[in-house]
Amino acid sequence: SRAAITVDRDFTVGPVPRRLFGSFVEHMGRCVYSGIFEPGHPAADENGYRTDVLELVNELGVSVVRYPGGNFVSGYDWEDGIGPVESRPRRLDGAWHTVETNAFGLHEFACWATKANVEIMEAVNLGTRGVDAARRLVEYANHPGGTYLSDLRKKNGAADPFGIKLWCLGNEMDGPWQIGHKTAHEYGRLAQEAGKAMRLVDPSIELVASGSSNRGMPTFGAWEQTVLEHTYDVVDYVSLHAYYEETGGDTASFLASGVDMDLFIEGVIATADAVRAKGRHRKHINLSFDEWNVWYQSTREGDDQPTTIEARGGWHEHPRIIEDEYDVTDAVVVGTLLNSLLRHGDRVAIANQAQLVNVIAPIRAEANGPAWRQSVFWPFARMSELARGEILRLSTTADRVETAKYGDADVVDASATWDEASGRIAFFLANRGLDEAADVTVTLRGLTAGRVTRAEVLHAPDGADRFATNNEQNQHRVRLAPLTDVATEHETLRVALPPLSWAV
Ligand code: AHR
Repeated sequence: SRAAITVDRDFTVGPVPRRLFGSFVEHMGRCVYSGIFEPGHPAADENGYRTDVLELVNELGVSVVRYPGGNFVSGYDWEDGIGPVESRPRRLDGAWHTVETNAFGLHEFACWATKANVEIMEAVNLGTRGVDAARRLVEYANHPGGTYLSDLRKKNGAADPFGIKLWCLGNEMDGPWQIGHKTAHEYGRLAQEAGKAMRLVDPSIELVASGSSNRGMPTFGAWEQTVLEHTYDVVDYVSLHAYYEETGGDTASFLASGVDMDLFIEGVIATADAVRAKGRHRKHINLSFDEWNVWYQSTREGDDQPTTIEARGGWHEHPRIIEDEYDVTDAVVVGTLLNSLLRHGDRVAIANQAQLVNVIAPIRAEANGPAWRQSVFWPFARMSELARGEILRLSTTADRVETAKYGDADVVDASATWDEASGRIAFFLANRGLDEAADVTVTLRGLTAGRVTRAEVLHAPDGADRFATNNEQNQHRVRLAPLTDVATEHETLRVALPPLSWAV
């Protein structure tokens, strides 16, 4: 198959938002416990943080991490996670049917975030709690001192404020599964008042209103409209969440998941801008895609890693749940989801792959064992490293693949950046064709092709198929290999992409 792409150095979308390379640490399964935190592990540092995992987080190039949930946050009392560890309460977490020990809390996360060199994105509980708990958390975290809560933080070991700028007003409040689920009107009012009270404590914070849990929610569109009508003046962003999986052997639709993400993003932009017009507002509300990934939610869940109390035989501390093992196809899809986010980088200001370690994650870690990279690690790591400067607008003409769910889709999916400072262009390309290689011709207007400094590809490894994965025994099976069929000539770049591949 074939694809022709044209870029022009003057046709840009905007600067690459660094917060697009965010991730998510929830108190869920083994993301925190034996993921980022495992005192006693051979690689643990003096605080119990796994340095092998920290090294992989650094290599992944994560910029911002959302915490502590997720569904977990909607039943969480943040005060349980502060103060002397031995006096912290053990609690039932209803969201994941788990015993939460509270051995890890805000101080432990803030210290980890400093070591990982990531910004914190803190979510407040608007499920079981509200305005008061949210404003108190902002005061505890961000006020310099001289008040009960800020002095309590000092007493608990943090002399300096955590200085958390980015705050989520609840999580997936449109979802009937959410503890404290609300109607759009109920949530909109609560988010408005909580946000207002939080800003009265620290006017410098940025706020994310909780949007739809996915594009298929019955309330999608109407939810955003009502919530933003209430909160427009107080919030900066509205959130989006989406998880994709292959169902019923429909690989073509799965590979076109990025089309759904495009539609979702463009739908939320349209809705936010309609509220802006109707309310005669000046500012724009931008988008925070603060949960996205591949997740075999309907097809694999519940077999070897049960999520109900009954199936698990009672309540346990940090059980193994939704530890999806990702293959080559999943990595190609993740590459296309990253392309969708980057192409919309003028409005999608924040994005968080869910989650960081073990739980539907690019990094896996075993208790008292190794940590390794899943297949989906690679597109994220390379895009975070190489997407620099300005996002380029693409004009693409490509052969089309038919899909049952999304109609026709381009066989080649792409995004690109141009960094004037280094003189480097980066292309991120996916071939959705299962059997055919794709010849891609890129015309560079206003730019000279120069030379190819680096070209890598991820596809089925020799002797394996698209279902190949990395695991504890075989940690490096799916990885990047040099892409050799690539050449430049004057204003043209030619690339041959192997069947079902992601390349940079
Ligand atoms: O990331 C796993 C879960 O997916 C989160 O807790 C929730 O917000 C979403 O439904």
